Amino acid sequence: MTKALDGVRILDFTHVQSGPTCTQLLAWFGADVIKVERPGEGDATRKQLVDVPGADSLYFTMLNHNKRSITIDTKAAKGKEILERLVKTCDVLVENFAPGALDRMGFSWQRIQELNPRMIMASVKGFGPGKYEDCKVYENVAQCAGGSASTTGFRDGLPLVTGAQIGDSGTGLHLALGIVAALLQRERTGRGQKVLAPMQDGVLNLCRVKLRDQQRLEKGPLKEYSQFGEGVPFGDAVPRAGNDSGGGQPGRILKCKGWETDPNAYTYFITQAAVWEDVCDVIGAPEWKTDPNFATPAMRLPRLNEIFARVEAWTMTKTKFEVMDICNPHDIPVGPILSMKELAEDEGLRATGTIVEVDHPKRGKYLSVGCPIKMSDSPVEVTRSPLLGEHTDEILSTVLGYSADELAAIKASGCTEPAPKKDKSAAAGAAPAAGVNLFRNT
Ligand SMILES: CC(C)(COP(=O)(O)OP(=O)(O)OC[C@H]1O[C@@H](n2cnc3c(N)ncnc32)[C@H](O)[C@@H]1OP(=O)(O)O)[C@@H](O)C(=O)NCCC(=O)NCCS
Repeated sequence: MTKALDGVRILDFTHVQSGPTCTQLLAWFGADVIKVERPGEGDATRKQLVDVPGADSLYFTMLNHNKRSITIDTKAAKGKEILERLVKTCDVLVENFAPGALDRMGFSWQRIQELNPRMIMASVKGFGPGKYEDCKVYENVAQCAGGSASTTGFRDGLPLVTGAQIGDSGTGLHLALGIVAALLQRERTGRGQKVLAPMQDGVLNLCRVKLRDQQRLEKGPLKEYSQFGEGVPFGDAVPRAGNDSGGGQPGRILKCKGWETDPNAYTYFITQAAVWEDVCDVIGAPEWKTDPNFATPAMRLPRLNEIFARVEAWTMTKTKFEVMDICNPHDIPVGPILSMKELAEDEGLRATGTIVEVDHPKRGKYLSVGCPIKMSDSPVEVTRSPLLGEHTDEILSTVLGYSADELAAIKASGCTEPAPKKDKSAAAGAAPAAGVNLFRNT
C-alpha cells in the first residue's frame, strides 16, 4: 500500500528532540528520511539517559524510528561534497542546529538554493528574528519564553514547566506542518522555500488562550478563574490558574477513591452547562437544579469552590474509572488522571498502534509511542531507529550513486569514520556567509 509521502526524500540534519520529532512523523507518513550524523558520535541523545549499557538510549530510539543513518563529517572536504550531493538529491533539508551552524559549515540558504532550487529548508530555532535569535534553546527555556510557565501552576506557587514537551515536540509538529504545506506549494510553483519554526512562537501558539485572557483581563476580572470566586484581586498579567479549565466550561481535578495512597487517583471533572442538571443528579445535589444561586453558568462562577467541593465529596467515593463509567452515559465530560504505567498497559492504545512494542538488536524489546495521527490510506508501520551509520554505504551507493572506486576514496578520506584527534587550530571553519533574514518583519 502506498503512503502519503512516498517519493519524498528528507535530508535529516536534526538532533535532540524538536527536529527528530518532525522527521519521525514525516518518516511515518512514508518519506525516506536520511539522518546525517557525526561519525563516532551521532545524535547526542544516543548516549543520554542510557538505561541499557552499550545500546542507544530510549531517548534516541523513541525519536528516530523509520529513519536511515549515514555518518559524515560535514566539515571535511569530502564530507561537504557528499552533503552537496544529498542536497541535490533530497526534497527537504530539516535542521535544528544552533543559529548559524549551517552557515558556518558552508551551507547557507543561498548556497542550498544554488545547489537545488526545489529544496525546502526547514529549521527549528529557539527564537525567531530579533534580539534573542542567536540563543541556544532547550525545551524548558521555550516553555518559559513562550508563556507556558507563567500561566502554569498555582497562583501562590512558582511558575511550572509541564511534562508535555510543547517546546520540542510541539515545535517539531509545527515544523512538519510547514514542510508538508511547502511541498504542496512546490507542486504549483516548482520552487522550494525556507520554513522556520521558532520554539518560542510554537509554545505561544499553544498558549493562545492565555493571550486571549490577557486581553479580556484588560476589560475586567476573569470570572472563570477560581480566584474570582475567592475574592482575590487580579494583577495586570494573566495569573496561574491551577487546574481551572482554560475554556468557558468550569473544571477541576478532584480526588477519587484511593487518593490518600495513589498519586494518580484523581479525575478531571467538567461542569458543562449543557449537562448541569445531570451533574446535580449524579452528585446527589438535585436541589441545585432549581436553586437560583446555581441556575445559570454566570451565577455559578463565583461559587466554583463550593460546587467543586460538593462534586469532590462524590468523586471521593468512586474510583477514577467508576467516575468515568457513571458520568459518560450522561455526557458529563470527565477524564481519569492516567499514569504512564496505566498508559503503557492500555489495551486500546496498543490496538490502535499509539503504544507499540519495537524490537532493537542491541536493547531488545521496548515500548514506544507510535504515530498519533491515523490516516485511512497511509498506514504506519513503526520500525526501529537506525544504529549509528548503519546505512552509510547503502546511501552512498544506492541513493547518491557513488561507484565502488568512489566509495573506496570516500572511505580512505576518513570522512565517514570518527576523526583522529587533531590540532584544533587546523579545524577553523569557513567564514559565515552573509545571511539575509527572511523572517524579520520590518
Ligand atoms: C539544541 C542545541 C542547544 C544544542 O546545542 P549543541 O549541542 O551545542 O549543538 P549545535 O547545534 O551548536 O551544533 C554542534 C556543532 O556540531 C556540528 N555538526 C553537527 N553535525 C555534524 C557533522 N555531521 N559533521 C561535522 N560537524 C557537525 C555543527 O556544525 C556545530 O558546529 P559549530 O558549532 O562549529 O558550528 C542547539 O542545537 C539549538 O539551540 N538548536 C536550535 C533549537 C532547538 O532545536 N532546541 C531544542 C533541541 S531539542
